[in-house]
Amino acid sequence: MSALPPRSIALVLGTRPELVKLTELITLLGPAAHVVHTGQHYDEEMSGRFVSELGIPEPTYLTGIGGRPRAVQISAALEQLDALFAEQPPLAVVVQGDTNAALAGALAANARGLPLVHVEAGLRSHDRAMPEEHNRVLIDRLADVLCAATPENRDNLVAEGVATDRIEITGNTVVEAVHGRLPDSGVRAELLSSLGLEEDGYVLATVHRPENTDDPEALEAVLTELAALARDLPVVVPLHPRTRDRIEAAGLTGLLAGLRVTRPLGYRDFLALARHAALLVSDSGGVQEEVTVLGRPLVVVRNSTERPEAMADFAVLVRPGPELGAAARARLRGGAAERDRLAALPSPFGDGTASRRIATLLTAHAA
Ligand code: UD1
Ligand code: UDP
Repeated sequence: MSALPPRSIALVLGTRPELVKLTELITLLGPAAHVVHTGQHYDEEMSGRFVSELGIPEPTYLTGIGGRPRAVQISAALEQLDALFAEQPPLAVVVQGDTNAALAGALAANARGLPLVHVEAGLRSHDRAMPEEHNRVLIDRLADVLCAATPENRDNLVAEGVATDRIEITGNTVVEAVHGRLPDSGVRAELLSSLGLEEDGYVLATVHRPENTDDPEALEAVLTELAALARDLPVVVPLHPRTRDRIEAAGLTGLLAGLRVTRPLGYRDFLALARHAALLVSDSGGVQEEVTVLGRPLVVVRNSTERPEAMADFAVLVRPGPELGAAARARLRGGAAERDRLAALPSPFGDGTASRRIATLLTAHAA
């Protein structure tokens, strides 16, 4: 990797999951990496804490983007990225996933004729209500190197007519993120004991998608089901700032009373809690992948998923409402035998070598 000049690969990112999933690649690139953070996520606990905890070199930060409407996030980032790329042209640009930050990075690379590498290409929910679905389709159209995590992701791209010589199956970089950051068993035991939790004795839940947070009925239904579960065992809920805002705006704070609500957690602490949860409930993309590495059962609260690979064994997909509670109880009844079964299965998202493969591809394309 040292063959690449300093700061010659621009990695454009803006949110918590992008920081998690690009860490290993950034580390492998060493001085060649120039991390550009759009500021889409801006709270210390969604952004700065991850930069320091994950050991990411000091990013170049864009301004005026966090908390703005989607079009402004994309256009303001695009304008600033264009100026940055004009002043300091990179040899290639890397984006990950399907956020507004990733789309802005892709458009900026395209506008300057720079090679674009898309990490986590080819995911499709076929759900046009999701902004992420539009972002990822557009990024895949623009990308020169499409790093598909799984054969299914590659098939999605081929079905859309993407030339096969632009696609590589690399696995998902989240696998090495989990392997590299999961605290050892002693540290995990200390954390659980400090929180008064027992191994396999609690539920860990995260919710942040607009379909669950921006619709007060859906939000109420999710919280009602979690509160009902919390009558049987602790339910730990690290609240995304979007969700916290929407709960307050919808006057639903009372439904949090029985839950163990926390601020967003750092990555190591979140993984430690996920590793020993009897069950996870989430609408997160990354969590759907992480449970397959940690071997834990998951109930996904969403209308659709772009990660069908997780649904075969690890996860079930439900809508907000009583279906959620029923699915959660059914999965909890599986107990230790089910958790042992899951722990023995390989992750469908790869073997922990995705970042290394992508770094090698980058070296070839940036030459
Ligand atoms: C974004 C991504 C989503 C990803 C998620 C990861 C898009 C379209 N969405 O959703 O794909 O799953 O990040 O968490 O790119 N907020 C804060 N502080 C922050 C960040 C957000 O208060 O640090 C609040 C603001 O009210 C903001 C709202 O959350 O308006 C939404 O933030 P935004 O980044 O637009 O979308 P996310 O829901 O975080
Ligand atoms: N995560 C975390 N702390 C939390 C909640 C989540 O570190 O309190 C991590 C989680 O392990 C995963 C990533 O954040 O790696 C997922 O982010 P999010 O759910 O916000 O986004 P998505 O994956 O849905 O795009």
